[in-house]
Amino acid sequence: MADLLVTGGAGFIGANFVRYWRAAHPNDRVIVLDALTYAGNPASLEGDDGRPVSTLIHGDICTPGLAESLLREHRIDTVVHFAAESHVDRSIHGPDAFLETNVRGTHELLKAARAAWLDGAWTGGPVRFHHVSTDEVYGSLEPDDRPFQETSPYAPNSPYAATKAASDHLVRAYHHTYGLPVTTSNCSNNYGPYQFPEKLIPLSLVNALGGKPMPIYGDGMNVRDWLYVGDHCRAIDRVLSDGRVGAVYSVGGRNEWTNIAVVRLLCRLLDGAFGADAGLAARFPDAPPARGRQTSTLITFVRDRPGHDRRYAIDADRIGLELGFRPSESFETGLERTVAWYLANERWWRAVMDGSYREWTERQYGATAG
Ligand code: NAD
Ligand code: DAU
Repeated sequence: MADLLVTGGAGFIGANFVRYWRAAHPNDRVIVLDALTYAGNPASLEGDDGRPVSTLIHGDICTPGLAESLLREHRIDTVVHFAAESHVDRSIHGPDAFLETNVRGTHELLKAARAAWLDGAWTGGPVRFHHVSTDEVYGSLEPDDRPFQETSPYAPNSPYAATKAASDHLVRAYHHTYGLPVTTSNCSNNYGPYQFPEKLIPLSLVNALGGKPMPIYGDGMNVRDWLYVGDHCRAIDRVLSDGRVGAVYSVGGRNEWTNIAVVRLLCRLLDGAFGADAGLAARFPDAPPARGRQTSTLITFVRDRPGHDRRYAIDADRIGLELGFRPSESFETGLERTVAWYLANERWWRAVMDGSYREWTERQYGATAG
């Protein structure tokens, strides 16, 4: 039995992870620490009965002493660190928050873990600090380059990627210098339920349902390696269970797609969903298939993202060979599940889009950041 502190557990991957963990390890205790920025949504942690699936502590990882007191008070033996500013476009327009949370916040957590676990007073069993990171720390690939692997040199290009790279180095240094038992995973692009509609897939989806343009940056030929979020959660579980302390694991879907191909597949899935369910046209009257048109008519090429990385791809051999991890969803099945989830959970994304979830969160949890 383990006692987990999940930072950023009200965000996209964190919430999926908490839900996954509660189902896979029902005897473990899970506590979420989340600052509830614009990206954190307590509704993502509601079970089918409307009750929270875990305890949620509203707090900032940057607050000195907070994490240490939580580790001691709740006898936490496992930290799974998701909390971050995660959107590349936001990091281009306002990098400061990224430095604060991704670098200083990660360092506060590492100091907390070191103080609580390594000062001689820890009487519990084995401990672990797992750091959730990204393939973006390795920069951009040319079309014929081999995919990134654990030994690829760091070459972050956006402020977001640079701060995640810095956090990876801090985690590594705390292991090397102080012996903190850490693992790190660097994962490719995730998609699935509860993703904030600022990222490519959910943004395209909700825009299409509202009859709004689906923006494609530049020529649409940038490539990402997509992994269903549930598969990422299983990968982290494998690393927590059997990963080597101090090791880094690359996680990806062996699933490279150009952005334009992703959006075209999404359009076909939406056209199919409207064809199969006549009720959708009444619910989403502005969506093209409700008016006898194809969703792809909304695709709109827009100005490129500054410094836009051309291609990411992950060589996931290490986690496959050492830990037996393989993705279980293909892109087609994962995207179909994602479309079905957004169609069935309109209340969740409407509240995110119109901001009403923020008012609700502030009433429940007090003033929020971001
Ligand atoms: P997200 O933006 O959806 O969620 C981030 C969460 O962290 C939110 O709940 C937010 O409220 C919380 N948070 C932000 N600042 C905080 C602070 N100072 N203190 C406490 N909580 C804070 O992000 P995501 O997409 O779920 O990503 C989670 C992690 O996975 C990040 O570390 C990201 O770098 C990494 N990652 C994401 C992807 C992806 O495709 N989304 C891929 C690989 C790695
Ligand atoms: O690779 C892992 C990373 O994936 C994570 O570390 C990040 O947290 C996560 O946000 C994601 O970064 P990307 O920048 O790749 O994701 P995003 O969804 O913002 O964009 C995916 C691709 O689609 C990218 O090439 C930019 C493009 N794009 C994005 C948006 C939002 C568009 O063409 N149009 C859009 O409207």
